[in-house]
Amino acid sequence: MQVTKTVKETRDLIKNWKREGKTIGLVPTMGFLHEGHASLIKRCREENDIVVVSDFVNPTQFGPTEDLEAYPRDFKRDSELCESLGADVIFHPEPKDMYHDPHAFVSIDTLSDTLCGKTRPIHFKGVCTVVSKLFNIVTPDRAYFGQKDAQQLAIIRKMVQDLNFDIQIVGCPIIREEDGLAKSSRNTYLSEEERKAALCLSRAVKAGQNMICKGSKAEEVLTKMREIIEAEPLAKIDYVSMVDALDMQSVEIVEKDVLVAMAVYIGKTRLIDNFSYEV
Ligand code: PAF
Repeated sequence: MQVTKTVKETRDLIKNWKREGKTIGLVPTMGFLHEGHASLIKRCREENDIVVVSDFVNPTQFGPTEDLEAYPRDFKRDSELCESLGADVIFHPEPKDMYHDPHAFVSIDTLSDTLCGKTRPIHFKGVCTVVSKLFNIVTPDRAYFGQKDAQQLAIIRKMVQDLNFDIQIVGCPIIREEDGLAKSSRNTYLSEEERKAALCLSRAVKAGQNMICKGSKAEEVLTKMREIIEAEPLAKIDYVSMVDALDMQSVEIVEKDVLVAMAVYIGKTRLIDNFSYEV
């Protein structure tokens, strides 16, 4: 496995592989890899000749009061994991190599003003910008994203369609701990007590899934999910919403495919979880 630090060395490697007719898969990450990322890398390994993992804590997707500095990092562990999973390249640039001032941005506004976009107004603009840059640097045939960040996945699919990126976007299932908590690099922020409290998210997901399968109305499903979370003293709801799976706008009647998504603060840590329901 090769570790690349600059755009140029990454491009040079990939150009050679492309000349040989090899297919390229990209797994964009912010590092501090866990089993969720591992599942993306494994799928990418199965479906492509070359696997590129990007490992970059992207500053432009963090708001001024968010956890950019505190975001967990462990490049040595990340590179060992990538190597063990058969990745060919881990691209680990410095922020100064990715951004100069002033910088162009990519924004998919229509899907970015609901759910997480309300609380994190610049987040998806930063995500779309860095993902576009990674797409242009790596020129992958396929790129892999987790369903845990369901709004991000929907926005990236729209971006690829609107901006004519010739890349297949592969969405992969949420990976959970044995007790149900969705894997996230931010889980490391949780104290023991908070870790237990955080299970209210997956409990709410399970209850919501059961109710929606039995034909309950959107408001009934959301009320039940909110009750489960509100019963947990350390939890504070940012949002629990049901939206159209494509346009991310609220729905009241489940007659199309929907996404039921939530963001909940457990202490100071903001966690997300979701499920999709196909009609
Ligand atoms: O999902 C993430 O980890 C990040 O938002 C991404 C897609 C790697 C962009 O920085």
